[in-house]
Amino acid sequence: MVAYKSKSVERIRLPDRDERERALEEAGYNVFSLAADDVYIDLLTDSGTGAMSDEQWAALHRGDESYAGSSSFERLESAVEDVMGFPHVIPAHQGRGAENVLYGSILSEGDVVPNNTHFDTTRAHVANQGAEAVDCPTDAAHDLTAEEPFKGNFSVERAREAVSEVGAENVPLVISTITNNSTAGQPVSIENTRRVRAFADEIDATFVIDACRFAENAFFVREREDEYADATVGDIAREQLEYADAVVMSGKKDGLANTGGFVATRDDALFERCKSRAILYEGFPTYGGMAGRDIEAMAVGLREAVTDAYIEDRIEQVRTLASMLEDADIPIYTPAGGHAVYLDAGSFYPHLDSSEFPGQVLVCELYREGGVRGVELGSFAFPDSDRPELVRLAIPRRTYHQEHFEHVLETVESAYENRDAVDGLRLATEPEIPELRHFTAELEPV
Ligand code: F0G
Repeated sequence: MVAYKSKSVERIRLPDRDERERALEEAGYNVFSLAADDVYIDLLTDSGTGAMSDEQWAALHRGDESYAGSSSFERLESAVEDVMGFPHVIPAHQGRGAENVLYGSILSEGDVVPNNTHFDTTRAHVANQGAEAVDCPTDAAHDLTAEEPFKGNFSVERAREAVSEVGAENVPLVISTITNNSTAGQPVSIENTRRVRAFADEIDATFVIDACRFAENAFFVREREDEYADATVGDIAREQLEYADAVVMSGKKDGLANTGGFVATRDDALFERCKSRAILYEGFPTYGGMAGRDIEAMAVGLREAVTDAYIEDRIEQVRTLASMLEDADIPIYTPAGGHAVYLDAGSFYPHLDSSEFPGQVLVCELYREGGVRGVELGSFAFPDSDRPELVRLAIPRRTYHQEHFEHVLETVESAYENRDAVDGLRLATEPEIPELRHFTAELEPV
């Protein structure tokens, strides 16, 4: 079933092979340094890259740009209350701004933070407070083909081990990331969320949900958790978030906006602490670094995100690309998650050692073969970890169509056919913050 028609279009162009080769070399084999005009199909991220609806564009015009007390903020407050169930909201310029406000208000030097899997900015913000990020994924998380329904779940057992090593007094915060972006966009069940709530109570910690993709997660709960088969995605989302003391949100994901984010909480004291920090880093707490018009677009987007028409079309697109690739025997992470298809670069290039960055090699091949931009989430992005060598093809919301996906399939197929002929890459520069090196490091062919 088709859920949209186009009202505005943007020209795209596929540079020829020589141009692509030159662009790649000039970018130091790091696709973050490519000019977007040189990219034909951009699957770098699903963050802020989607198409807004006509209702969102209309709402932009209503933006109230008052420094304090804007009516746009009131509309955001009521959207967050209705859709997510939190009475207090502090806008931020995007998700990582919200992370800084919230985690900076909770953490101090020497603390330890369990999370099902920290997204890279989350890990960096935890580290920025002098705290240690501990990933607590389930056993199935890194099994690329296990057919389990909730491979994104938080392992309470692993978190408990971390607590027994450092003492509960050093674990003031527990985070569950739904869906689990760094584990192939896999969902987290409500049953698991309840267990994390109980665990946080047991150690007297604040329980935060990273809710960037909360609507996608709710779709999977309806599909896979029997108790919720007849519930609406909206009701499921609210119930899941009800277990948390606070959320960090990037409006660029399930806020369906091009920018923005927020912290929302039901804890009055935490709200007051966050407000003070927000003033320092983001702006007065009724705009928090956002233009009033962008707050409007995000408020409308949040409501759209939990409608069946939106979320069913969204997940269907991701699944369509995944099954096209599977039918062509391309090794991918299964089942497909909510916002992206993840290619198994380790299976493409068994002849490359992780120190030669097989995932980044595949990212470069996809650009070389078809002007497609993906992102590496393996040993280049996560130094010193034994994570699988994945390449994420993130699907921007409401943006691409079947023909685009057919081009992506052909591109991946060509890369797969040439897989024995490629060599590895090595670092040519080493940026200061290792957790963020994949954004800026330059590489060179081995
Ligand atoms: N948390 C998660 C789970 C995320 O995926 C992201 C962003 C953030 C926090 C930070 O939000 O970008 O608005 O500052 N993920 C993007 C991605 C960038 O490509 O996966 P932000």
